[in-house]
Amino acid sequence: MGSAGTFERVDAAAEVIRRHCGDVPKAALVLGSGLGDFADTLAGAVTMPYAELPHWPASKVVGHAGRLVIGTVAGKRVAALAGRVHAYEGHPLSTVAFAARVMGRLGVKEIVLTNAAGGVNTGFTRGALMIIDDHINLLGANPLAGENDDRFGPRFPDMTEVYSKRLRRIADEAAVAKGLAVTHGVYAGLLGPSYETPAEIRYLRTIGADAVGMSTVPEAIAARHMGLEVLGLSCITNMAAGVPLEPFNHDDVLETTRRVRGTFIALLEGIVERL
Ligand code: HPA
Repeated sequence: MGSAGTFERVDAAAEVIRRHCGDVPKAALVLGSGLGDFADTLAGAVTMPYAELPHWPASKVVGHAGRLVIGTVAGKRVAALAGRVHAYEGHPLSTVAFAARVMGRLGVKEIVLTNAAGGVNTGFTRGALMIIDDHINLLGANPLAGENDDRFGPRFPDMTEVYSKRLRRIADEAAVAKGLAVTHGVYAGLLGPSYETPAEIRYLRTIGADAVGMSTVPEAIAARHMGLEVLGLSCITNMAAGVPLEPFNHDDVLETTRRVRGTFIALLEGIVERL
């Protein structure tokens, strides 16, 4: 899908949200696999199931609840997106980036993209939290491909600092204040849905990746295109294929996110407090 009509669809969704949400949230948080619980911690919340938002793509992945919750945490108004769509579900990347685009048109200035990821860096352990310093797009596509709509942003947007230095510093400060260990690294975004082979993981390590996952990159690119400040956080739910020799599956991913849920929510609260 090119951009023709996308802008109008994005604005139609933003308009419905604006009518229901009261004050426009300052920041948006996209909650990855098993991390949607943060949405339940918002005070005075308005919940909008994705199904009720015009043109909003629906996700069918287990662990992705599918709702937008706007409310207050740490004294700040935020939009929490519990559930997202992925390219491996068969969506074009412009569809995958739709929610991030709506947040931008709603007036959000900062977007926090969270995900479950496999640990490629052998120094990582299961359950670690990683602040994304940069990404490698290995999806084989780009959400900005097709006709450019200048109302979103320029044809050839700069990607020197996709993940805002300022927001990464805030995340570090929040972690210190809450006594939480965080690490930093490069996230490689792959199409999926099959997990990687051990040879692919060795390749990813060689090219400089520390973690691997199937989301975040399209949203980050579209958000930067629109001039939003982006922060990316990965929960290392498993060590990637071949690091330990045992196989793993999506249940292992969800089990880890359940285990680190409290820590993850504390970190997000600390971040929002400092925005
Ligand atoms: N690979 C890709 N995506 C993932 C992984 C993984 O090991 N774990 C969670 N999401």
